[in-house]
Amino acid sequence: MKYTSLGRGGVKVSFIGLGFWQAGSRLWSFRDSRVYDSVRLGLEYALEAGINFLDTAEVYGGGFSEKVLGEAVRKLGRDNFIVASKVAGYRVTSGSIVGGVEGVNRRLGFTVDLIQLHWPPPYPWPLCWAVRGLEEAVSRGLAHYYGFSNFSTKLLERALECSRRFEPVSNQVQYSLAFRTPELKLFPYMKSKGLTLIAWSPLAKGALAGLEAPASPAQRGDKVFSKASRDGRLQEALRITAGKLGASKAQVALAWLIAKGAIPIPGFRDPGRVKEYAGAVELNMGDAEVNLLDEASMEYLTVWGDDYRELLSLRLTPAILQRIIITLMGGI
Ligand SMILES: NC(=O)c1ccc[n+]([C@@H]2O[C@H](COP(=O)([O-])OP(=O)(O)OC[C@H]3O[C@@H](n4cnc5c(N)ncnc54)[C@H](OP(=O)(O)O)[C@@H]3O)[C@@H](O)[C@H]2O)c1
Repeated sequence: MKYTSLGRGGVKVSFIGLGFWQAGSRLWSFRDSRVYDSVRLGLEYALEAGINFLDTAEVYGGGFSEKVLGEAVRKLGRDNFIVASKVAGYRVTSGSIVGGVEGVNRRLGFTVDLIQLHWPPPYPWPLCWAVRGLEEAVSRGLAHYYGFSNFSTKLLERALECSRRFEPVSNQVQYSLAFRTPELKLFPYMKSKGLTLIAWSPLAKGALAGLEAPASPAQRGDKVFSKASRDGRLQEALRITAGKLGASKAQVALAWLIAKGAIPIPGFRDPGRVKEYAGAVELNMGDAEVNLLDEASMEYLTVWGDDYRELLSLRLTPAILQRIIITLMGGI
């Protein structure tokens, strides 16, 4: 395994991480006793392969993902992993964010390494209040680092202006061969500020692994999945590159993100996938392969917009309404 640091000189994390949204999520039709074995086995394979970076959130399964992940991490050795979680964007005051991080730690059973704000605060709440809350959590020792998620270039600029006591280390955004918008403005800006890009849906929910038909509501409702799974040109480029490198399509899609300097965090229900994901780091992806994939995915640089706007529509939904809806749903 190869390792890099979170932010400027932050903690050491593997070039690839794992996402735990699936663990306990109804949207992934995965909220039953199978989750325990999936997470435990997935982590055992991660440990063997040297993957140490894990991502969850308070809204995943209404906290269930954090509980199951926390238990498995403690069993396999807390010090073997760097665990990231997220507090929901409906936490708009410093006190609410600090309370949210306390809840995260209670469910995990230990102090979280990286706490991220899952989406930007809705209007009219000041962004600086949220930044104050994240800094306060770090200052009280409730998290070792903080970062953002789904922040556009402009919001990130403003958030950096707000930060006073500690520098953020990361921004977690959608980024894959089928969603390249971050390459235009956001990622160059983040690089200039030493912020790590953590890439969510790095496989376009399985479409870039070659999955043709959706196997859960999360995939069924996803425009990126639907476009990428039917994109003959992109699938052919993945197939050719995979054949050349003796790899799978999923490994090629992940290795492409790593070559771009992002940390992908693919999710799974089938724990066997973890071994395959880990193999992506060892792929010998040269300029020729990157160029071929770049060309085949050119339309995805702009097709979803030229600046990052994912989940930004949530800014128009009042915080209290967001909280009620997500709570009634039992999380996402
Ligand atoms: N910050 C945010 O707003 C945000 C949003 C979304 C996600 N995330 C994070 O990012 C992580 C990853 O994103 P994601 O879960 O949306 O999608 P993803 O990592 O792009 O795709 C994961 C899915 O791909 C499927 N897959 C992989 N290889 C496959 C193959 N060969 N054949 C068929 N299916 C295959 C897996 O299926 P199986 O389940 O069948 O194993 C898995 O569920 C999440 O777990 C979460 O931690 C964050």
